[in-house]
Amino acid sequence: MIAPAPTPAHSGPMVPSAKLARWVDKMTALCAPESVVWCDGSEEENQRLLDGMIASGTLIRLNSEKRPNSFLARSDPSDVARVEDRTFICSRIKEDAGPTNNWRDPKAMKEVLARLFSGCMRGRTMFVVPFCMGPLGSPLSRIGVQLTDSPYVVVSMRIMARMGRAALEQLGDDDFVACLHSVGAPLDPGDTDVPWPCNRENKYIVHFPEERAIWSFGSGYGGNALLGKKCFALRIASTMAREEGWMAEHMLILGVEDPTGEKTYLAGAFPSACGKTNFAMLIPPESYSGWKVTTVGDDIAWIRPGPDGRLYAINPEAGYFGVAPGTSAATNPNAMAACSANTIFTNVALTPDGDVWWEDMTHEPPPELIDWQGQPWTPSCGRRAAHPNARFTCPACQNPGIDPEWENPRGVPISAFVFGGRRNSLVPLVFQAFNWSHGVYLGATMGSEMTAAAAGTIGQVRRDPMAMLPFCGYHMADYFNHWLNIGRHNPNPPRIFHVNWFRKDSGGKFLWPGFRENMRVLEWIVRRVHGRAYAIEGPLGWMPRHEDINWEGADSLAEERFAELMAVDCEGWKGEALSQGELFLKLYDKLPKEFLLERDLLISRLWRSPQFWNLSSGGRPPR
Ligand code: OXD
Ligand code: MN
Repeated sequence: MIAPAPTPAHSGPMVPSAKLARWVDKMTALCAPESVVWCDGSEEENQRLLDGMIASGTLIRLNSEKRPNSFLARSDPSDVARVEDRTFICSRIKEDAGPTNNWRDPKAMKEVLARLFSGCMRGRTMFVVPFCMGPLGSPLSRIGVQLTDSPYVVVSMRIMARMGRAALEQLGDDDFVACLHSVGAPLDPGDTDVPWPCNRENKYIVHFPEERAIWSFGSGYGGNALLGKKCFALRIASTMAREEGWMAEHMLILGVEDPTGEKTYLAGAFPSACGKTNFAMLIPPESYSGWKVTTVGDDIAWIRPGPDGRLYAINPEAGYFGVAPGTSAATNPNAMAACSANTIFTNVALTPDGDVWWEDMTHEPPPELIDWQGQPWTPSCGRRAAHPNARFTCPACQNPGIDPEWENPRGVPISAFVFGGRRNSLVPLVFQAFNWSHGVYLGATMGSEMTAAAAGTIGQVRRDPMAMLPFCGYHMADYFNHWLNIGRHNPNPPRIFHVNWFRKDSGGKFLWPGFRENMRVLEWIVRRVHGRAYAIEGPLGWMPRHEDINWEGADSLAEERFAELMAVDCEGWKGEALSQGELFLKLYDKLPKEFLLERDLLISRLWRSPQFWNLSSGGRPPR
């Protein structure tokens, strides 16, 4: 059994700075809770909160033989995911938020929120949760304090961040990101005991970037309520990063160790449903003896130029808030091991022996279950057992593939950025940008095809620049300029690559096996970064030939199939270039000039290539 996370040293009362005490007093007066509890992050406090939630029906304790110290929560069916249309950026000037964010005037929004928060915690406890995003003691870390009336949020924050006394001590008198959260449940006396309090009608996830403040009302779920994650570590942090010359990115960070012990770190941005967590926790195929892939982070990276000019990244989080359905011993054994104990599951199914199950966890579903809404379930009942956005919340240190440097306060040096989307057609398996500004262009234009979940839009490409569309706290074109600036001031910036695991043949079959086999692409990227792999110049970027990929131990992908996977349909790509222009039009007033030039260069390369460019028809001599 994996031991629970170590308990922080516990002694004496928690002493806040005058600034923090003043803010807590002010918010207490506004929200009118029955009591205020300062959370120290200790194991005793954690167990007390867990026991309280078991008594109130918010949590079910799982079978301690099968899932030690683990729990199941079932949310209200109206509160199951992030609510992008209720997410607001309230910068003083509308143009600072840009056209891809929901903007509201901060003063007007504060008035709305003050009404909603007024007395909203009556009869409840307000928890004061100091937390550190990033390793304690790291100059790259930042402190937040969340006030919340949800004990579920407190125990989840304890997994996802360094929470409690140590964070408060690190804060000292400094500034902090002020995060106010209430589940916003209606205050009828009969409702105080509902297992998942929330507000079904009224949700507001509001960011005040200049003030470094977040106000979240009405939801108890995930990114709406665990304010350290998307709200702080991406939306607020992206604005801090821009001002201070660093980057807050929606990126995994992984390490690759080759058989000689050489370590290479890279960071990757993928929109949702593209296998980001699986890639962050990749286990190489059997034939890769001596190679190791290790995880620094699976979702967010804070990246800063170091004294040697290289970019260094930390994972600001301490846990994983992973999507459960689709995760299995076959697709991601490290994630399965990470959530084998000390885990809070939300909206998964319960087995008769007190364990959890979700779609595709096993080949055969169990004959009976209790579904995520607490109803009896059988495989033939026609309903899903787990909600598609069901989650596991578990400590990152339980991942057997965790990188030994994952808590290094200086971060890890990044040698490459990888962008990827889900594209059934057009986009080759892998290619490398010609240079930094071309690479930033690739990230800015990346897109993903919508899947069957959204009726009527199947196959439609949603542009999601750097996978940051819902998470950038300021104007997206300013964000592109910030990326370009980072490269301008760096004589040797990381190399940039684009991957697509999802290309299909004309019969609708995936051309690439994916999962562990992605290691073959990763190896080429790593060798390329070190100047040890060939590539030829294609219309989209530098591309590997069949012989540049290591096929050892694979039923080597036939050369023709590889050519199909790497082919560039130049006519199709002209359409792609047009569609990239749609996003640019929206951002035109601040769009970097480089992007217009990059797009022109792309079009001119397409014009000068054969209509169906492939590795043998168009390739120049290897370099
Ligand atoms: C997440 C997301 O939950 O990106 O990580 O939506
Ligand atoms: Mn994410």
